[in-house]
Amino acid sequence: MEIKKIAVLGAGQMGNGIAHVCAQAGYEVSMRDIDQKFVDKGMATIKKNLERGLKKERITQEELDTTLGRITGVLDLKEAVKDADLVIEAIPEIVNLKLDTWREVDESAPEHAILASNTSSISITQMAAVTKRPEKFIGMHFFNPVPVMGLVEIIKGQATTDDTVKVIKEVSHKVGKKTVLVNEAPGFAVNRLLVPAINEAIFAIQEGVATVEDMDLAIKLGLNWPMGPLTLADFVGLDTLLYISDYFVDEFKDGKYRAPALLRKMVRAGWVGRKSGMGFYDYSGETPEPNRF
Ligand code: 3HC
Repeated sequence: MEIKKIAVLGAGQMGNGIAHVCAQAGYEVSMRDIDQKFVDKGMATIKKNLERGLKKERITQEELDTTLGRITGVLDLKEAVKDADLVIEAIPEIVNLKLDTWREVDESAPEHAILASNTSSISITQMAAVTKRPEKFIGMHFFNPVPVMGLVEIIKGQATTDDTVKVIKEVSHKVGKKTVLVNEAPGFAVNRLLVPAINEAIFAIQEGVATVEDMDLAIKLGLNWPMGPLTLADFVGLDTLLYISDYFVDEFKDGKYRAPALLRKMVRAGWVGRKSGMGFYDYSGETPEPNRF
């Protein structure tokens, strides 16, 4: 089966990155969000990120224009998916929202279309089960920032066929990513390790083991991570981390995955990291300033 047209649901951090790499690889893309302001913001981010490539002479002005020209911003879900060969969903990690969206997509997308979720932890099998095509349902987990990170985790649900896996592997390779195949489990492979590691850094901050900047420096230089765990927490979004931690506790029934109280308090305060301007660092000035806890 040949994929020509991809519908990306969600124009946020992950959705616009996915739309960007798909369009750059030559696919026609419809990028859908629920409000024009989200669509506009997603398009502006794609343009800004393509311009980075132009400045570094990785792409030409013509490639930039062609890539942008392949992306159509859409508000109506039916319109977005009606002639798609592949639907990639990157909407918020709220189980019922995902299930409702998949029911609607299943009604409107062509029968042959593959349905892929970019969920960071939610069960592929649970989402597949609300559609009439669980064999064509799969997890396609990208990493932030999508244009830079080299991996797609492919997650097989209970009914996902090898044919579906094959197509998604090909699409992932075409958009420039290497793939790993993971059987369904909460957090798949990467977040299973990443989320407890970040949480442990937050527990250490909560206990006064080190300052935010020292903990980040320790892990950056001591383990050669590109970003320290608290910078990475702000980058991923503290709301997302809290959501995944709570989901892990529910699914594994194991308290070792519990979220630190500090993380929960920060999310309640609206300090969800870079996107809100405040998290473990304060982003209101020229350079991020570490907060004290
Ligand atoms: N979009 C496009 N390109 C970007 C970008 C973006 N948002 N951010 C950075 N870049 C490009 C830069 O242009 C630069 O390109 P170059 O190599 O051609 O010069 C390159 O990436 C490196 O950027 P910088 O020099 O500005 O900065 P760094 O060297 O610090 O790299 C980083 C930035 C790539 C974000 C790096 O710090 C990094 O890899 N951090 C870790 C990111 C990570 O762990 N992501 C996974 C998060 S977990 C996740 O997404 C799963 C979810 O389910 C929770």
